[in-house]
Amino acid sequence: MSATPLLPRVQLTQRVRFEAAHRLVSPRLDLEQNLQVYGKCARPGGHGHNYEVEVTLRGPLDPTTGMLMGRKEFREAVERAVVEPCDHRNLNDVVSEITTGENLARIFFEWVARELPPHLEIMRLRVYETPRNVFEAYGGDPPTTP
Ligand code: NI
Repeated sequence: MSATPLLPRVQLTQRVRFEAAHRLVSPRLDLEQNLQVYGKCARPGGHGHNYEVEVTLRGPLDPTTGMLMGRKEFREAVERAVVEPCDHRNLNDVVSEITTGENLARIFFEWVARELPPHLEIMRLRVYETPRNVFEAYGGDPPTTP
């Protein structure tokens, strides 16, 4: 049994959307191999998605406001980090990695984290490439004391 009191974990989630083009293509593969790996997503010319990005924060409540972070402040931070650089862009021009949902989740996680106050952490960031293709990046758990 731990002597540490159990504190409830409180979370807050914000979802934003943007529209962007991309094409899945690995520079290590030729066109035929890219088409084998990524299917239609590798077709030259690219294609578009209506992306949604959902960020879940975790952290201490502000005793004055009863909130983790102001809604407007949170929404604006996520929009500044993700929507502003990506909306109506070709994501292959925006990031240097292959624009898979896995990579986008990891990259957006870093971008959003830079816009947040240091006492708040991202528990989870989800990228909805389509309603059925969902990718997630998780923050590391803080070290626990025995
Ligand atoms: Ni796609």
